[in-house]
Amino acid sequence: MDFLTTVPLLWGRPANIWLGIILGVLLIFQIYLGIMMVRGRMNLLKLHKINAAFLFIIALIHAYWGLGIWFFNFQIK
Ligand code: HEM
Repeated sequence: MDFLTTVPLLWGRPANIWLGIILGVLLIFQIYLGIMMVRGRMNLLKLHKINAAFLFIIALIHAYWGLGIWFFNFQIK
């Protein structure tokens, strides 16, 4: 069950860092989609929902690893 308390290294940095960068990009994309929908492009709602689901899942993993590293002594390797 080691994998539950280990954050993998990817290209020399904790995977959490990369997830954070992806989250930032997805969040900006989500807001962009929302603004476009308010401006009349309601056909983007499906993409807005799919992107929201990805945001949610990645945010959960990002938070789990982040809190684990800071407060619960997760290993990075
Ligand atoms: C973190 C940012 C956001 C998340 C996670 C998010 C998530 C969602 C989700 C899950 C829905 C679908 C709701 C449903 O199925 O009833 C939705 C709908 C919508 N969102 Fe967002 N959203 C975000 C930001 C924004 C922004 C910044 C705007 C506009 C400026 C926006 C505009 C809309 C609109 C217009 C709808 C359609 C509402 C409807 O007619 O049912 N969203 N959003």
